[in-house]
Amino acid sequence: MRLSLCGYIVAGAFIVVGGALAADGQTVYTQDCAGCHQMMAPKTGDKAAWAPLIKTGTDAMTANVIKGKGMMPARGGHADLSDADIKAAVEYMESKSK
Ligand code: HEC
Repeated sequence: MRLSLCGYIVAGAFIVVGGALAADGQTVYTQDCAGCHQMMAPKTGDKAAWAPLIKTGTDAMTANVIKGKGMMPARGGHADLSDADIKAAVEYMESKSK
Protein backbone atom coordinates (compact mmCIF):
# COMPACT_ATOMS: atom_id res chain seq x y z
CA MET A 1 0.00 0.00 0.00
CA ARG A 2 2.71 2.40 1.04
CA LEU A 3 4.82 1.50 -1.97
CA SER A 4 2.11 2.01 -4.53
CA LEU A 5 1.15 5.37 -3.02
CA CYS A 6 4.79 6.37 -3.31
CA GLY A 7 4.75 5.34 -6.94
CA TYR A 8 1.83 7.63 -7.64
CA ILE A 9 3.58 10.56 -6.04
CA VAL A 10 6.76 9.96 -8.06
CA ALA A 11 4.75 9.60 -11.27
CA GLY A 12 2.86 12.78 -10.46
CA ALA A 13 6.09 14.69 -9.91
CA PHE A 14 7.37 13.55 -13.29
CA ILE A 15 4.25 14.78 -15.02
CA VAL A 16 4.60 18.19 -13.39
CA VAL A 17 8.31 18.47 -14.22
CA GLY A 18 7.72 17.20 -17.74
CA GLY A 19 5.02 19.79 -18.25
CA ALA A 20 7.34 22.60 -17.20
CA LEU A 21 10.19 21.49 -19.46
CA ALA A 22 8.57 20.21 -22.61
CA ALA A 23 6.82 23.05 -24.33
CA ASP A 24 3.23 22.74 -25.37
CA GLY A 25 3.40 22.81 -29.15
CA GLN A 26 -0.04 24.31 -29.55
CA THR A 27 0.74 27.20 -27.20
CA VAL A 28 4.04 27.97 -28.90
CA TYR A 29 2.39 27.75 -32.30
CA THR A 30 -0.51 30.00 -31.36
CA GLN A 31 1.72 32.63 -29.76
CA ASP A 32 4.71 32.65 -32.06
CA CYS A 33 3.98 30.96 -35.39
CA ALA A 34 0.30 31.26 -36.25
CA GLY A 35 0.60 34.93 -37.21
CA CYS A 36 2.42 33.89 -40.35
CA HIS A 37 1.40 30.32 -40.89
CA GLN A 38 -2.32 31.00 -40.87
CA MET A 39 -1.99 33.13 -43.98
CA MET A 40 1.44 32.45 -45.47
CA ALA A 41 2.74 29.33 -47.18
CA PRO A 42 3.29 26.75 -45.94
CA LYS A 43 -0.11 27.37 -44.37
CA THR A 44 -1.00 25.16 -41.42
CA GLY A 45 -3.59 22.65 -42.61
CA ASP A 46 -2.57 22.90 -46.28
CA LYS A 47 -1.88 19.22 -46.85
CA ALA A 48 -0.43 19.68 -50.33
CA ALA A 49 2.05 22.26 -49.11
CA TRP A 50 3.11 20.18 -46.12
CA ALA A 51 3.33 16.71 -47.71
CA PRO A 52 6.79 17.26 -49.24
CA LEU A 53 8.02 19.01 -46.06
CA ILE A 54 6.75 16.27 -43.78
CA LYS A 55 8.68 13.79 -45.93
CA THR A 56 11.93 15.57 -45.03
CA GLY A 57 11.23 14.77 -41.38
CA THR A 58 10.48 16.70 -38.20
CA ASP A 59 14.16 17.18 -37.38
CA ALA A 60 15.01 18.67 -40.77
CA MET A 61 12.04 21.06 -40.57
CA THR A 62 12.90 21.99 -37.00
CA ALA A 63 16.49 22.75 -38.06
CA ASN A 64 15.19 25.02 -40.84
CA VAL A 65 13.01 26.94 -38.39
CA ILE A 66 15.93 27.30 -35.94
CA LYS A 67 18.25 28.76 -38.56
CA GLY A 68 15.54 30.54 -40.53
CA LYS A 69 14.42 29.97 -44.11
CA GLY A 70 13.38 32.40 -46.83
CA MET A 71 11.02 34.96 -45.29
CA MET A 72 10.99 33.15 -41.95
CA PRO A 73 13.49 34.63 -39.51
CA ALA A 74 15.56 32.31 -37.29
CA ARG A 75 13.29 30.69 -34.67
CA GLY A 76 10.37 32.43 -36.32
CA GLY A 77 11.80 35.65 -34.88
CA HIS A 78 11.48 34.45 -31.28
CA ALA A 79 15.01 34.05 -29.93
CA ASP A 80 13.62 33.04 -26.54
CA LEU A 81 12.20 29.76 -27.88
CA SER A 82 14.26 26.67 -27.10
CA ASP A 83 14.94 23.96 -29.68
CA ALA A 84 12.40 21.80 -27.85
CA ASP A 85 9.77 24.56 -28.08
CA ILE A 86 10.32 24.83 -31.82
CA LYS A 87 10.18 21.09 -32.32
CA ALA A 88 6.94 20.87 -30.34
CA ALA A 89 5.42 23.62 -32.51
CA VAL A 90 6.59 21.90 -35.70
CA GLU A 91 5.05 18.63 -34.51
CA TYR A 92 1.80 20.45 -33.79
CA MET A 93 1.77 22.00 -37.27
CA GLU A 94 2.52 18.61 -38.83
CA SER A 95 -0.34 16.99 -36.93
CA LYS A 96 -2.72 19.65 -38.26
CA SER A 97 -1.46 19.38 -41.83
CA LYS A 98 -1.48 15.72 -42.75
C1 HEC B 1 7.49 36.02 -40.24
C2 HEC B 1 6.58 34.94 -40.60
C3 HEC B 1 6.84 33.55 -40.01
C4 HEC B 1 6.87 33.21 -38.68
C5 HEC B 1 6.67 34.09 -37.45
C6 HEC B 1 7.08 31.78 -38.66
N1 HEC B 1 7.21 31.29 -39.93
FE1 HEC B 1 7.60 29.36 -40.44
N2 HEC B 1 7.75 29.89 -42.39
C7 HEC B 1 7.51 31.14 -42.89
C8 HEC B 1 7.76 31.13 -44.32
C9 HEC B 1 7.59 32.31 -45.26
C10 HEC B 1 8.18 29.82 -44.65
C11 HEC B 1 8.59 29.30 -46.01
C12 HEC B 1 10.11 29.40 -46.11
C13 HEC B 1 10.61 29.04 -47.50
O1 HEC B 1 10.45 27.88 -47.88
O2 HEC B 1 11.17 29.91 -48.17
C14 HEC B 1 8.15 29.07 -43.41
C15 HEC B 1 8.46 27.72 -43.32
C16 HEC B 1 8.29 26.95 -42.18
C17 HEC B 1 8.47 25.52 -42.10
C18 HEC B 1 8.95 24.60 -43.20
C19 HEC B 1 10.45 24.51 -43.06
C20 HEC B 1 11.11 23.68 -44.14
O3 HEC B 1 11.73 22.66 -43.79
O4 HEC B 1 11.00 24.07 -45.30
C21 HEC B 1 8.17 25.13 -40.82
C22 HEC B 1 8.22 23.74 -40.25
C23 HEC B 1 7.84 26.34 -40.10
N3 HEC B 1 7.91 27.42 -40.95
C24 HEC B 1 7.51 26.36 -38.78
C25 HEC B 1 7.40 27.54 -38.02
C26 HEC B 1 7.31 27.57 -36.58
C27 HEC B 1 7.32 26.34 -35.68
C28 HEC B 1 7.21 28.87 -36.22
C29 HEC B 1 7.09 29.44 -34.80
C30 HEC B 1 8.21 29.17 -33.92
C31 HEC B 1 7.24 29.65 -37.44
N4 HEC B 1 7.35 28.81 -38.51
C32 HEC B 1 7.14 31.04 -37.48
C33 HEC B 1 7.11 32.26 -42.18
C34 HEC B 1 7.07 32.35 -40.79
